[in-house]
Amino acid sequence: MSTPFLLVSRSAEFEARLRGLLGGRLLIVPGAFLTFGAPTVAEQIDGEPKIAFIGPVVNYEETLSLANEFTARFPDLALVVVREQRGDLEDWVDELHLQAVVSPLADDDQLKASIAEVVQWMLAEGRATVGEFRPRPAADADDLSRAFAELMGDVDLEEVGTAIEPPVEEEPAEPETPQWEFPPLVSGKRPEAFAVVAPKGGQGKTTISINLAAGLAKLAPNSVVLVDADTQFGDISAALDLRPEATIVEATSDSAADELILKTMLTHHRDNFFVVASAPSPELGDEIPPQALARLIQQLRGIFRYVVVDTTPGLGEQTLTVIEQVTDAVFVANFGVPSLRALRTELEMLRTLDLLPANRRIVVNQSEKNVGITVKDAEQIIGAPVDVEVPRSSAVVLASNRGVPLIDDDPRDPAARALSILVARVGHDPNSRSLRRQRRS
Ligand SMILES: Nc1ncnc2c1ncn2[C@@H]1O[C@H](COP(=O)(O)OP(=O)(O)O)[C@@H](O)[C@H]1O
Ligand SMILES: [Mg+2]
Repeated sequence: MSTPFLLVSRSAEFEARLRGLLGGRLLIVPGAFLTFGAPTVAEQIDGEPKIAFIGPVVNYEETLSLANEFTARFPDLALVVVREQRGDLEDWVDELHLQAVVSPLADDDQLKASIAEVVQWMLAEGRATVGEFRPRPAADADDLSRAFAELMGDVDLEEVGTAIEPPVEEEPAEPETPQWEFPPLVSGKRPEAFAVVAPKGGQGKTTISINLAAGLAKLAPNSVVLVDADTQFGDISAALDLRPEATIVEATSDSAADELILKTMLTHHRDNFFVVASAPSPELGDEIPPQALARLIQQLRGIFRYVVVDTTPGLGEQTLTVIEQVTDAVFVANFGVPSLRALRTELEMLRTLDLLPANRRIVVNQSEKNVGITVKDAEQIIGAPVDVEVPRSSAVVLASNRGVPLIDDDPRDPAARALSILVARVGHDPNSRSLRRQRRS
């Protein structure tokens, strides 16, 4: 019979602990099998596991081969690495496409919380059903149910299951009537449009755009639209696990000049905001005329209270057009000297072109302790004050692998907190004093 949880490790102690938490629903394949390769490990598995724990004491190459072998055999599987927090963890999380990392030193409560989080994610994604995680009727069924109830903490499984399990039958023949509406613009509240801009790629524009949209959507549900105007290599759909029916290519076409038609081209995210997805191919994205992009942003500003636009790195024609159409810009750099210098040049160039938006914020992302550059140094190099410092955190990549905004996925994470401060600032939340506290520290 299929067990939902699988553990491959070389630690008898961790095996015993996880066994204690998960009981008969855990299949343990001893790490000794790794000597014979990942396929041999996989051959020991009966049925289809849903969540696989790999580690502790399993190295990167072994984890990679197991990850590849398992995901090829079990496409719905979630991968959790059991490993202490170390400097190279971001690479693991990124390259191995993990859903979670748990420390072997975590206490039982933390371990349970992490497992419950991944289980909930599997249910929400439709990758597993509640029934698959239930304890199976066995001699020690009572113990198992108790252990499981405890494991899930406050989560009411019946409720979670019925609320988010996808409908089993009936593919809707016609497009479903949306559950959401576009709230009317409140008079007196000026619609705001933000461009998230950086001179280089990989600085965190997309991460910040997504979390800004998700955060503003909490202040103004369904009054936020996130536009992926990184027209060639935009990855918001992937980072949010969306399957858009229309993209920015259609939204900038002539037919979208009609507002009603434009509205049908938006993709709704369950956190109550809308997305204009990026082009399906770089060629199509490159062909979008700047004036069409300008019209799209103007139209969206007539529909939504907040428009957040993720952009192509640098100051190409499309990005300059976006900057012309917005009220606010969020500039992003990281703590490297080249990145900070490039940002200074970008700001100077926009000033020369007289295109610097009236409201601007500077976010320095991926800060790390003890790298030698302080916020003060960064401000000196940029030639402008830094508004928010976002620390480097593996939670960012984990959230992106799960396809959810970080501020919803792990609100207590330090990077999520910094992003919430940014949201509070730009969303004019009166409780945003914490930013000043952050800047002083
Ligand atoms: N604060 C952070 N800590 C750790 N990883 C981060 C952080 N911000 C961004 N990343 C990761 O860095 C990579 C680039 O970020 P992304 O937001 O896609 O940048 P951009 O859109 O500017 O290219 C992504 O893999 C992202 O998950
Ligand atoms: Mg990006």
